Amino acid sequence: MAAATTDHPTNTTYRTTHAKLAAWVDEVSELTQPDSIYWCDGTDEEWNRLTDELVAAGTFVRLDESKKPNSFWCASDPSDVARVEDRTFICSQNAEDAGPTNNWMDPSEMKSVLNDLYSGSMRGRTMYVIPFVMGHLDADKPMFGVEITDSAYVVASMRVMARMGMDVLDKIESTEADFVPCLHSVGAPLEPGEADIAWPCNDTKYIVHFPEERAIWSYGSGYGGNALLGKKCYSLRIASAMAHDEGWLAEHMLILKLTNPEGVVKYVAAAFPSACGKTNLAMITPTIPGWKAETLGDDIAWMRFGKDGRLYAVNPEDGLFGVAPGTGYGTNPNAMKAIEQGNSVFTNVALTDDGDIWWEGMTDEPPAHLTDWKGRDWTPASSEKAAHPNSRFCTPIRQCPIIADEYDDPRGVPIDAILFGGRRKTTIPLVTEARDWTHGTFMGATLSSETTAAATGAVGVVRRDPMAMLPFMGYNAGDYFQHWLNVGKDADSSKLPRIFYVNWFRRDDDGGFLWPGFGENSRVLKWVFERIQGTVDAVETPVGRVPAPGSLDIDGLDVTEDDIAKALAVKPEEWRDELPQITEWFEKFGEKLPSIFWSELDGLRERLG
Ligand code: GTP
Ligand code: SPV
Ligand code: MN
Repeated sequence: MAAATTDHPTNTTYRTTHAKLAAWVDEVSELTQPDSIYWCDGTDEEWNRLTDELVAAGTFVRLDESKKPNSFWCASDPSDVARVEDRTFICSQNAEDAGPTNNWMDPSEMKSVLNDLYSGSMRGRTMYVIPFVMGHLDADKPMFGVEITDSAYVVASMRVMARMGMDVLDKIESTEADFVPCLHSVGAPLEPGEADIAWPCNDTKYIVHFPEERAIWSYGSGYGGNALLGKKCYSLRIASAMAHDEGWLAEHMLILKLTNPEGVVKYVAAAFPSACGKTNLAMITPTIPGWKAETLGDDIAWMRFGKDGRLYAVNPEDGLFGVAPGTGYGTNPNAMKAIEQGNSVFTNVALTDDGDIWWEGMTDEPPAHLTDWKGRDWTPASSEKAAHPNSRFCTPIRQCPIIADEYDDPRGVPIDAILFGGRRKTTIPLVTEARDWTHGTFMGATLSSETTAAATGAVGVVRRDPMAMLPFMGYNAGDYFQHWLNVGKDADSSKLPRIFYVNWFRRDDDGGFLWPGFGENSRVLKWVFERIQGTVDAVETPVGRVPAPGSLDIDGLDVTEDDIAKALAVKPEEWRDELPQITEWFEKFGEKLPSIFWSELDGLRERLG
């Protein structure tokens, strides 16, 4: 069926045969009044044209071809640098279905607010239609989305982050598939003749999800998780609601393949809050001889039970949107090698005088002169950082030199271990093993971490971030906990992943890290691997099992025994301080809190004495 014609000017000649898509594109263009409509095909030719346009508009600066081929530097508006959690809403029909951790507004009320904002919001701009699929196009049930946006930056970034383009649209049309409509506008219409600015956005921002309708409406921001709607909005918030209804899991997790020196393979998924080490662990270079790590995903895992009763994970994304600062050859050489190949967009990093990029932690010595992320001259004497703490590289994941072959397998990989982790200066040991799935779910539900620059707001404040999903749960958090418990209950427990809790960020009294982290985290992965095999010992503590003396391989590690002991210590006095915080956290959920969590907490209190 052809779409109805609209009475405002449009250069589009394309008419989709997909009735719902055609109607939605018409509806949005009538509402937002763009100058033209453009259907994205995902070709190189399109990328070249759009990036040239972005350079001409001053949004992108093309990097030196010999340093970062086909790559671009981009600075956002200084107010538009991170996810905006206070502007993010889950608009379920009933408030309780979004509560108590999400912002909520009645869906029709929210739509009326947003319709006013979207009205004419694309004037003077092109409306891009991006057909995409999260996960594989040849999955049993491909997970389609279509993003409508008035930002060419979003189109370029989505091309890196997701499988998109004409082959996706062909399949949506030929199979008459459903898709998640994802509407995005930067909220900066142009008057006739008005010149555009490099990073249009609006002070008013709304990142809105309608979980029952499976729809996303985003307004006012051009940045990352606010605007690349296939990522957090679809693959976590909407997908978690789908997963709850359908019996699977959509999680904020990396996926890693580990091979030991004997050639035995295990797959690990790990949930750490934003800017707490997923990309780094996903690309780890093991420091212990004979161990091999390969990357499957660095941010999001979709996990479903296979016919064999095991939990299989796929990475729905196709790119890396990684934290730049701290990424260097010393910490994450595989990320550096991925970036070096180019085909990337760098947002809010510093620009070197010779057309390359730099950020804090890339090299020990900064260049003598830079253009900082705000476009100002910068020298090592400058008091501010050259790159924003949440500056990002956006790079095809296939450029990761250790990408696993299984990345291309739509069935995914069977997960052997799930790690939960956070950024805590005290209390949480380097690694703790859960007794069972329920205890592991309790660990995940009580996960705590210091806030980071990945979201606007204060940095370094300890908050509960259950399963690293606090900002990403698309429904009631109590129901989410129960869903995790149900997943365990319905499964053959011998086939379930084993659950561990890690903390790379514990500090000594002087404020230094007790554990060297990065590649050395392979020692913890080895212990996890060997616990699953049953070949290393653990000791019981009130909070779970920690490595028995001598069972963590610290051979050749330049760390004192004393520091290792401190990193692993379970200090009852620290944990007793934690108890009232967990109680207060659990009380938020009222009747929705699975009662077994109260029993777990009682057990913990008793064991602590
Ligand atoms: P998002 O993309 O926001 O979800 O972040 P992420 O979880 O992928 O975090 P990432 O791996 O990008 O790391 C964030 C910051 O933590 C970077 O500055 C890293 O250098 C730092 N980091 C990562 N792993 C370690 C570690 O093992 N030890 C220490 N001390 N810092 C780490
Ligand atoms: C995060 O904040 O967890 C990210 C970056 O991975 S964003 O795409 O902005 O969500
Ligand atoms: Mn993330």
